[in-house]
Amino acid sequence: MERTFIAIKPDGVQRALISEIISRFERKGFKLVAIKIVIPSKDFAEKHYHDLKERPFFNGLCDFLSSGPVLAMVWEGEGVIKYGRKLIGATDPQKSEPGTIRGDLAVVVGRNIIHGSDGPETAKDEINLWFKPEELVTYALNAEKWTYGVN
Ligand code: GTP
Ligand code: MG
Repeated sequence: MERTFIAIKPDGVQRALISEIISRFERKGFKLVAIKIVIPSKDFAEKHYHDLKERPFFNGLCDFLSSGPVLAMVWEGEGVIKYGRKLIGATDPQKSEPGTIRGDLAVVVGRNIIHGSDGPETAKDEINLWFKPEELVTYALNAEKWTYGVN
């Protein structure tokens, strides 16, 4: 089953939005298969955002990601990579639709509270960067037969 990497950035953790964000993924029907709280080093943040290293905000972004605890998660479900990005909303919260996480809970692009992998390759790379294989838990949820049906 498809998996994606989702992280609540230091602003989301400090603003006490962990349960609100987890709840949106959980209520949708996605399954949490890994979770931990970590303060990434600057070097680690630079690895995570390596594709943005030519952008003018790269240094500030990496300083910010390493400035406090991040809640790192892996969520599993059909279409979770693309739909996770929909739940999150547009990068700039000024452009995110109401009803999305950033649309409802954030105001500026530099403090947009959450990260989500943008495709299957980045999901794989980011899960491998943030988690060891044994930290991913494979299990069945009772509700799965209701979420997905049997046919
Ligand atoms: P992530 O899920 O965090 O990767 O966001 P994204 O995929 O929606 O956007 P992108 O990967 O292009 O940018 C990564 C992060 O860089 C964003 O989430 C923002 O926090 C930050 N960022 C992007 N564009 C800008 C910008 O123009 N200015 C500033 N200050 N930060 C930006
Ligand atoms: Mg991105």
